[in-house]
Amino acid sequence: MKNLLICVLVVVCGCAGMESKGPEAEEDAQPAAIAKDIVIADFEGEGYGNWAVTGEAFGPGPAKGTLGGQMEVGGFEGKRLVNTYFKGDETTGTLTSPDFEIQRKNINFLIGGGMHPGETCINLLVDGKAVRTATGPNDQPGGTEALDPHSWDVSDLAGKTAKIQIVDTATGGWGHINVDQIVQSDAKAAATEEVETSRNFVVKKKYLNLPVKMGARKRIFRLIVDGEVVRDFDIALAPMAQADDEPDFWVTLDVSEWKGREVTLKADSLGRGSKGLSSVEQGNSIKDSSDLYVEKLRPQFHFTSRRGWNNDSNGLVYYKGEYHLFYQHNPYGWPWGNMTWGHAVSKDLVHWKELGDAIHPDKLGTIFSGSAAIDENNTAGFQTGKEKPIVCFYTSAGGRNPESKGQPFTQSIAYSNDRGRTWAKYEGNPVIGHIRGGNRDPKVIWHEPTKKWVMVLYIEEGVMAFFTSDDLRTWERHSEIKCYHECPELFELPVDGDENNKKWILYGGSGDYLIGQFDGKEFTKETESIRFQRGNCFYASQTFNNIPEEDGRRIQIAWGRVNMTGMPFNQQMLFPVSLTLRTTDEGIRMFAEPVEEIKKIHGKRLSWEGKTVEPEQKENVLAGIRGDLVHIIAEFSPGERGEFGFIIRSVPVVYNVEKQEISCKGKSAGLRPENGKIRLEILVDRTTIEIFGNHGRVYMPIGTILPDDNRVIRIFTKGGNVMSDLLEVYELRSAWR
Ligand code: FRU
Repeated sequence: MKNLLICVLVVVCGCAGMESKGPEAEEDAQPAAIAKDIVIADFEGEGYGNWAVTGEAFGPGPAKGTLGGQMEVGGFEGKRLVNTYFKGDETTGTLTSPDFEIQRKNINFLIGGGMHPGETCINLLVDGKAVRTATGPNDQPGGTEALDPHSWDVSDLAGKTAKIQIVDTATGGWGHINVDQIVQSDAKAAATEEVETSRNFVVKKKYLNLPVKMGARKRIFRLIVDGEVVRDFDIALAPMAQADDEPDFWVTLDVSEWKGREVTLKADSLGRGSKGLSSVEQGNSIKDSSDLYVEKLRPQFHFTSRRGWNNDSNGLVYYKGEYHLFYQHNPYGWPWGNMTWGHAVSKDLVHWKELGDAIHPDKLGTIFSGSAAIDENNTAGFQTGKEKPIVCFYTSAGGRNPESKGQPFTQSIAYSNDRGRTWAKYEGNPVIGHIRGGNRDPKVIWHEPTKKWVMVLYIEEGVMAFFTSDDLRTWERHSEIKCYHECPELFELPVDGDENNKKWILYGGSGDYLIGQFDGKEFTKETESIRFQRGNCFYASQTFNNIPEEDGRRIQIAWGRVNMTGMPFNQQMLFPVSLTLRTTDEGIRMFAEPVEEIKKIHGKRLSWEGKTVEPEQKENVLAGIRGDLVHIIAEFSPGERGEFGFIIRSVPVVYNVEKQEISCKGKSAGLRPENGKIRLEILVDRTTIEIFGNHGRVYMPIGTILPDDNRVIRIFTKGGNVMSDLLEVYELRSAWR
């Protein structure tokens, strides 16, 4: 074991070759000697030696780099480090050094992992008290496992007896800490001497292109115009320090609104030798994006953001021929972060055009989920021209900006008078102050019977509250209901198409729903919670406001949680579905079917009627289907036993006749034949298989990366003959071309 015991060997070097620091150095009359560093621990041994360990988090000894299930750990020295991700984030413990004497001006170390002060940290203890402390940089999903240099100036503690204590008592996200190379030194750790770095640009083009490298340390950037911080975000800026150090992709910072003016782009820090900022360049398109929309995992008929992360669909609203889709967007990175409302429009729910980000973080914080509505009667008074205002309701979620940090979650509004092309925030924001906890995700609808605006807001774990307003600016709170987590939705649907028999639906992030009555102020449930979808990737969905009456559909778009590893974008939306309430033998249920606009991209068709599918059938009747994008509609008359279904590019979609169950990728749902038949409708894109059983009685969206080199789709049956009454298969065209 090397250097785990406190090493007290001190070598004093001669001063030859030291540069004079000029007159101010003369104050320091000491002979200019550099005392050699004292390594407190380099954690290169198999165990922790005479350091005291409690709990499980530290494992049997220093970790050999990355642990199972962890993002890649970089930036440590040698082969091992302290890494408390042992058995994941759930484990806890402490690691404490023996006493040592403080003999140098600084204690330098490398640190990474969680940013939970007091819970994932390294402490310097003197007389049992923490006199210095430091954490890793991460407290949000995403982030980096990289260790960075850190220094404590301990000159005031010279001669004191101290201990180093490494703590991991956090168990949630980023509930671990990485530490290495703890050294006493008269010099500060090199990278902590970095200076702020900035560049000025006279804006000539639409974008500044910034290079991103996955796993690179996140830097905080500010865009400053006339002394005002107009953008504030973090980015894993590619250091580009070496010639072969290419960025993974480029992201854009839209500066078009400052055309002709000077803007300053300023980083909090840059690594030594970083060329990241000097590589930033102006452009009218995304740099190095010749493969845009044809990237290997790019869904071809599902919405994804050109660059960066998306989660929840937000602000779904229809206005004058355009469906507006906003979304939780990280414009500058692959993981979640920098929450901003991205924005796209479509004329048909299939072909989307990104318009750029609509609502950016500000002094009240980052921009979390919410909704949008058309203010037909200009109740808020925002209208300036002929167009009706589109009004967006979102959560201001506090943030990193010094002015927003520590701000509680509040509700705010923004509006557009030009069909969503430009946006203004209401100067009276927030319109609803903090109520409790993480209150968020306002869904606003027009309630015709009471002629009022209604908002349903998530308050805290399992609680939603209802508000009303006449002018969208002032809101009155009425009632609360115990139900779901996050992203509330509230709308009315006819039962079996009967306009005289309507019911209200209330749901949350999972999509599970209550059926009941709503009087404009209070929701009265008539059922217990009902499971909605049965897939593996559905979350945080919303339905469109202001769909014209003559259309009358209730159209939903959900976030599809699919990791797009290696891509310049991450996550996707699921295909829009139309929701209906229908009576079943179990009671009234909500059905989901893909919107009929899927027909817009129908290509080659193969159909088949009234044939028997035999077990072990050699011939693949679907051999003619070649594309990677497919729409299948099939009706079967199952036999007595066995299984049948499809193998879709290696992924089985299986109906089990005895169990009366449909399953795919470990998910399953009961599905009984109706009039003796099972109807399956399946949409296949590069990263999803969306299954609709019996006209949407079962909705099972599956996220799965389909193998690029296997485009074979087969129909199969095992253990019994099956009559396929109808089989219709369409190749689909990409919506991006
Ligand atoms: C749901 C959610 C919302 C929140 C948003 C933040 O996925 O947690 O409650 O507004 O994501 O991105």
